Amino acid sequence: MSDAVSSAPFEYDVVVIGGGGHVGLPLAIALADRGATVAVYDVNAATVDMVNEGRMPFAEPGAAPKLEAARAAGTLTAFTDPAVVGKAENVVVVIGTPVDEHLNPDPRAIPAALGTCSPYFRDGQLLVLRSTVYPGVTALVEKLVGELGHDMDVAFCPERIAEHKAMEELFSLPQIVSSRTERGRARASALFGRLTEQIVDLEPEEAELAKLFTNTWRYIKFATANQFFMMANDRGLDFEQIRQGLMTNYPRAKDMPGAGFAAGPCLFKDAMQLAAFNDNNFAIGHAAMLVNEGLPLYLVTQMEKRYDLANMTVGILGMAFKGDSDDVRSSLSYKLRRVLDFRAGTVLTTDPHVTTDARLMPLDKVLAESDVLVLATPHTAYKDIVTDKPVVDVWNFFGRGVTV
Ligand SMILES: NC(=O)c1ccc[n+]([C@@H]2O[C@H](COP(=O)([O-])OP(=O)(O)OC[C@H]3O[C@@H](n4cnc5c(N)ncnc54)[C@H](O)[C@@H]3O)[C@@H](O)[C@H]2O)c1
Repeated sequence: MSDAVSSAPFEYDVVVIGGGGHVGLPLAIALADRGATVAVYDVNAATVDMVNEGRMPFAEPGAAPKLEAARAAGTLTAFTDPAVVGKAENVVVVIGTPVDEHLNPDPRAIPAALGTCSPYFRDGQLLVLRSTVYPGVTALVEKLVGELGHDMDVAFCPERIAEHKAMEELFSLPQIVSSRTERGRARASALFGRLTEQIVDLEPEEAELAKLFTNTWRYIKFATANQFFMMANDRGLDFEQIRQGLMTNYPRAKDMPGAGFAAGPCLFKDAMQLAAFNDNNFAIGHAAMLVNEGLPLYLVTQMEKRYDLANMTVGILGMAFKGDSDDVRSSLSYKLRRVLDFRAGTVLTTDPHVTTDARLMPLDKVLAESDVLVLATPHTAYKDIVTDKPVVDVWNFFGRGVTV
């Protein structure tokens, strides 16, 4: 990079690396909405094109009008060229951090991704890690940045929004900010202070664990509810009836979730990151994984007890990992479908939001041709379903209990 480029004033307030993703794009849009000039850098050219056309690449309630407004105002522009990283004062990294097929996290993923961008790093920048990272990655990145010799600050500020609530939660959740230096903390606090009033200071190692503990805590709570459901169901009892009863005017149990598929791109993999971090010595985390991932198998086994499943057509309602979403990443509906493909006669699938699955059929056809239905994803659109077919409803979506 030439000196001319490195000494030029910053053209953007913020660049978001991985800014076309489910977390990066809402953040970029929110910052633009709050007056920042924002660049998105993403390796996915199709996503970059869509963003520049003012179109959301995925569903996120409330994001589309703000994206259109930012494009019209010229405050948000997307790029596939990493050179844009050198043009922003604040560099926020939100690339994906999945575990591999052996459930190993990759602590080198973020440093490796930064390899493409680091030639454009320069004095005066704040580098914010926002992906959910394996503990120790912030220190690795600090080392990498230190070796480059620039006068930069590094911060780790984890994203804690839930998909489909991003445009509310980015402006309302407290923001955890961590950095090794006072200046880094002050700069990161100022950046996120554009979005939210409450800043929570932690040390980088504390913040890394805070994020993993948050997601794993949720995952364990869902697993507990799912295990309670199976325990009650095995005795012919309706877990939902029990849950409603025990919660009635009893505040200490108010947070007990209902049963349901605990899936998606975060909870499972973050529990597994934490397990790997603790040398696979994480009995509760692994137990939660076995319970949550085992729920589709349990449901199919229960259905087999009740129906001649091998000679029946089963319809799966919903393939996204959560209600009203189009996101199929790590969705347990797909695990359910694989199990049923082996053990049922025919399996039909439908989803009103998912656009990436050639096997999907219209809802009417699935309702008409199935002998039994499984409500796998609680999409609001299914509230109006009228059918005389039996429905396996672990979510108690239809309010008729969860006995299978
Ligand atoms: N999805 C959630 O609800 C959620 C919530 C909180 C935190 N997180 C964390 O945020 C991070 C991102 O998750 P996501 O769901 O947005 O993932 P995503 O896959 O939707 O987005 C990642 C984006 O990064 C881009 N990308 C990948 N490698 C790149 C590179 N080298 N350079 C530039 N761009 C690159 C991809 O093209 C994609 O657009 C993860 O660490 C995740 O754990 C996710």
